[in-house]
Amino acid sequence: DTSTPQWRPVYHFTPVKNWTNDPNGLIYINGIYHLYYQHNPFENKWGHMSWGHATSRDLLHWQHLPVAIPEKEGKDTTTWIFSGSAVLDATNTSGFGKNAIVAIYTADQPKQKKESQFIAYSNDGGLTYTNYAGNPVIDIQRPDFRDPSVIRVGDKWVMTVAVPDDRKVQFYGSADLKKWELLSEFSKQGDNRKIWECPSLTPIFVDGDSTKKKWLLMVSSGNPDAATGMQYFTGDFDGKTFKNDNPADVQLFVDYGTTFYAAIPYNNLPGHTQTMLGWLMPFETGTYPWRGQMSIPRDLMLKTTSSGIRLYQQPAAVLNASLDKLPAAKKVFKKNVTVSGELALKGINSNSYWIDATFTPGTASSFGFVVAGEKIGYDIASKNLYISTRVSSTKVNRKDTGAVSGEKIRIQVLFDKSSLEVFVNGGEMVYTTLLFPGKDDTGISIYADRGNVKVDSLRIWDLGK
Ligand code: FRU
Repeated sequence: DTSTPQWRPVYHFTPVKNWTNDPNGLIYINGIYHLYYQHNPFENKWGHMSWGHATSRDLLHWQHLPVAIPEKEGKDTTTWIFSGSAVLDATNTSGFGKNAIVAIYTADQPKQKKESQFIAYSNDGGLTYTNYAGNPVIDIQRPDFRDPSVIRVGDKWVMTVAVPDDRKVQFYGSADLKKWELLSEFSKQGDNRKIWECPSLTPIFVDGDSTKKKWLLMVSSGNPDAATGMQYFTGDFDGKTFKNDNPADVQLFVDYGTTFYAAIPYNNLPGHTQTMLGWLMPFETGTYPWRGQMSIPRDLMLKTTSSGIRLYQQPAAVLNASLDKLPAAKKVFKKNVTVSGELALKGINSNSYWIDATFTPGTASSFGFVVAGEKIGYDIASKNLYISTRVSSTKVNRKDTGAVSGEKIRIQVLFDKSSLEVFVNGGEMVYTTLLFPGKDDTGISIYADRGNVKVDSLRIWDLGK
């Protein structure tokens, strides 16, 4: 394999070397964001699953730390450390010590064809973990039963966990993280085409109003040939049962690409902000010496819309403080410019930047950006955002999203060497994909096809080296 530094993101997390998939055990403690992640410490492909570890104070710069929970190779049993979560046990409910960090993960034992839930605790701030001697804490005798996500609800711990083949989520409750009681199940709703993995349950104030609490249930359900990667439900949770706001056949998607997957929210954040990280699935082109990256951290919001309560996402607000500290010379600002045809924005060739633009549609049938030679456009007639990529010199592959509309269209483009995340209208619709530009594919332009568009405002932060 040859090294691919040109595709190493600058402001997205990647392991120094080797494979990553899902983010695990996301937890914020004393000003530090912990990121554990599905990791193969030995090879640049999936296998030997362990929890890698990194920490950050701003969600932008990461410190790489040793593997926190390694795979376990026994005489007759191999235990791989699959996805899960971490909680801060501030009052020592588990008896593992005051302020112990407790990881709740899936032990995957391929020789036994078994997945069950294990716990492990850390008394050194999350650097190393000791497995609980009484593991497993939940075992339903199945080969597929995984990805426990634990949160504090009132005076108990609540776990959301998937039974993938059944396209089912189970909720369990516990007082001490060791003994778990099945509370209820949720299935046969939403998108059931693919197995369900990596569920999470998160309380959110609708429209930021503390009197309107709803619960967001997210499920990863897809793969490269599926329509999307993640879906969500909104509803009520009474401590036992999740009641979907919508009829069972309503399908709601977190992201309209197939790349964004296995996202889970941070535990223990201050205030009422909920922030998630997802994995960007590297299914086609290889990178070396690492493979896989995390998404930009995204704040989760629920908003009242004419079709009901919907999920909105924005790059985490904490990142703005870091962006604003960047040197002014690296920013490009424009206001009230009318574009027809193509307008090249000179001076940014790093393929690592952040664009925030608001357009007023004019006579053009579509408009948007050309980044690294590929088009990110908004189509007036269908109201769709689309991404068209060149498959060959004569063929382009166009992917459309769901409709988004408004008198003005805001488009945020986060492009970082090989990852592209597009947020439309403040995160009403999000589209994530990977792009692997060639050596000469640099630069940004604004375009308007068959007519014009007004750029009300445009800001670009160049984050490249
Ligand atoms: C999702 C997933 C999880 C599992 C982990 C294993 O990408 O399949 O369900 O815990 O990856 O690496």
